[in-house]
Amino acid sequence: MSTHTISPDILDPVSAKAAVDNVLFDFLDNHRKNPGQRQLAQLVKLLEEFMVGGKRIRPILTVLGWQAAGGENDLTTVVRVAASLEMFHAFALIHDDIMDDSDTRRGRPTIHRILAGKRGDDRTERFGIGGAVLLGDLAFAWSDNLLHTAGLTPAQSAAVLPILTEMRTEVMLGQYLDLRATGELTDDVDAALTVNRYKTAKYTVERPLHIGAALAGADAPVLAACTAFALPLGEAFQLRDDLLGVYGEVRDTGKSRLDDLRAGKSTALVALALRAGDAAQRARLRTLIGDPQLDETGAEEVRAIFAATGARDAVERMIDDRYRRALGVLDTAPFTADAVTALRHLSTTATRRNS
Ligand code: IPE
Ligand code: IPE
Ligand code: MG
Ligand code: MG
Repeated sequence: MSTHTISPDILDPVSAKAAVDNVLFDFLDNHRKNPGQRQLAQLVKLLEEFMVGGKRIRPILTVLGWQAAGGENDLTTVVRVAASLEMFHAFALIHDDIMDDSDTRRGRPTIHRILAGKRGDDRTERFGIGGAVLLGDLAFAWSDNLLHTAGLTPAQSAAVLPILTEMRTEVMLGQYLDLRATGELTDDVDAALTVNRYKTAKYTVERPLHIGAALAGADAPVLAACTAFALPLGEAFQLRDDLLGVYGEVRDTGKSRLDDLRAGKSTALVALALRAGDAAQRARLRTLIGDPQLDETGAEEVRAIFAATGARDAVERMIDDRYRRALGVLDTAPFTADAVTALRHLSTTATRRNS
């Protein structure tokens, strides 16, 4: 358990992040120093370095969900559960980067790239992927360990564990749907939004809020208000991510802005451009998006088509519409006033971000 004192200003996202980080880095430090598992130290160090980055939106939302539902005590438990979600997220990202063949994450080479070293040799490539699968699995197992040592009461366990299972199932489904749609470009905006809802809106916003609220013994109306707020905000968060994936600066996002295009990700942005484009524009998009060799010149051509078809502006409007809906829910949600203030602020930073 963490020996650090937890500030009562936990509602402030900076304090929440610091409290969660203390738990995570204490936990990893203990594993790295475990004399019975010396060979593990190299992997643990990789995970520690990986976990230095990241916005911590899911643990922050866990704390805010607890606060929204009137939580007052059990700070240590709440922070440890929040840390457990961030450890799960490390697993999800490490495996996502293998599946998406991404080279960069959080401003550093991805775990499979670090382990494989320079590209080219088949054996080292396979080692990189195998090692990263295992490190992801370890993060998953350790996220469970953080949860089981959080000091949950039987009532809290009964409330939280089914939601956690839902969250895990939903994100795996979302990731599966994302992979299935990759390389199969369509103008079906609703299909893209369904993937978005599972892989991000539920996983990143709704379930972390639910888990925090459930820790505080939330009733059905509070949980329903969490959902009504979270789904539009979470969709907007992913739509912003789709734009950043094409227009973002790597120094801000820590990720390549060619990955999504090269992989042929079926985002709402792409679907809208295919829907609005003329025959020549559609043909160019189908040639360029999904080309693993796509370079910046090709990407610029895609960006020009996104602008000319109005798809980029349309996604901005979709973000704005969802942002406003989420704020509207907060106006009448049965949440504590402090939590409403913090959630309003978080809604802005989550949708207007550049990282
Ligand atoms: C990335 O999540 C994956 C998405 C669901 C968009 P974040 O944008 O929260 O990534 P980190 O944790 O800050 O690196
Ligand atoms: C989201 O996948 C990752 C998770 C749901 C864990 P993406 O592939 O859309 O996100 P980035 O762009 O790699 O962060
Ligand atoms: Mg992915
Ligand atoms: Mg990815």
